[in-house]
Amino acid sequence: MGVRSNTITIAGSSPTIARQLARQSGASHGAALRWSARLLVAASWISGAIFATYIIAFFGGTALSGAGEQWNESLPDLYDGRALLPTAAIGAHFMAGGVLLLLGPVQLIGSVRRSVPALHRWLGRTYVFCAGVAGLGGLGFILGRGTIGGPLMDTGFGIYGALMVLCAAMAYARARAGSFDQHRAWAIRLFALTVGSWLYRMEYGAWFLLSGGVGIGPGFTGWFDAIMIFFFYVPNLIVAELFIRVCRQNRGRVIHFGAATVLLAASVFILFATWNFTVRSWGPRMISGVTEAWL
Ligand code: HEM
Repeated sequence: MGVRSNTITIAGSSPTIARQLARQSGASHGAALRWSARLLVAASWISGAIFATYIIAFFGGTALSGAGEQWNESLPDLYDGRALLPTAAIGAHFMAGGVLLLLGPVQLIGSVRRSVPALHRWLGRTYVFCAGVAGLGGLGFILGRGTIGGPLMDTGFGIYGALMVLCAAMAYARARAGSFDQHRAWAIRLFALTVGSWLYRMEYGAWFLLSGGVGIGPGFTGWFDAIMIFFFYVPNLIVAELFIRVCRQNRGRVIHFGAATVLLAASVFILFATWNFTVRSWGPRMISGVTEAWL
């Protein structure tokens, strides 16, 4: 992407945005917003990296060892050796999704963008490519086989995939055109969408812990499942839009402290849910994927 290091900022963790905020609205609430944004990016990266390692180790490891049918332990009918196209599409989407989760936060680090702009451009191209593969691979699977939850889930996930492809294409096109402010906004939207894939698991995990699974039906047909079909990406997009606007304008002390509190609460939730998922599911499956590939 044609990104100039001295003009572009991608996220609130960026020192550039932090400096703007501090100048515009006084140091203390600018600093609170900056540090809470940094904490959220760090929590997201740790959690996303664990989830990505699980995906690559489990789905990649079992496929390499010829035990692809083990994918169906995660969700029924993901792997079907007789339906090569949808199986290949969802497999490519797994690997691309894993890369997205690992790369996203690196793109947000302001010092990396400024000191190694070429790295930012190459990782950006890779990120856009993987977003396209994750989105189109997921859409290919929906068209070829359909989701476990039926038409409503097909619709929700279909919109999710289409939005991911759109945001990736726009982030790339705006960077190529030199419209860096718009590139930044589309990149934030794309990041908000990609984190949705693991937030989906986090939110299910948290709901299980809180409610014991009320509203979760067989084959994702409960009322909670119906809400979740959209809830894992629509709120993220709303938060992203608010964030883009707060950073563009001087909204004052209350808005900045409010935004900082929301970001802090999100970080605590992510760290708590990640711990539970890693201990109960991702950790044991990661080990089984790696041992399958090696033994
Ligand atoms: C960062 C991006 C993504 C990651 C990391 C990711 C990861 C995964 C994983 C691990 C699964 C297996 C099920 C599980 O273990 O829970 C899965 C299933 C699936 N994903 Fe994604 N995904 C991403 C993006 C997308 C997108 C953009 C779409 C939209 C088209 C999508 C559509 C699907 C579908 C349709 C399934 C199968 C659901 C079913 O069998 O009913 N994913 N994804």
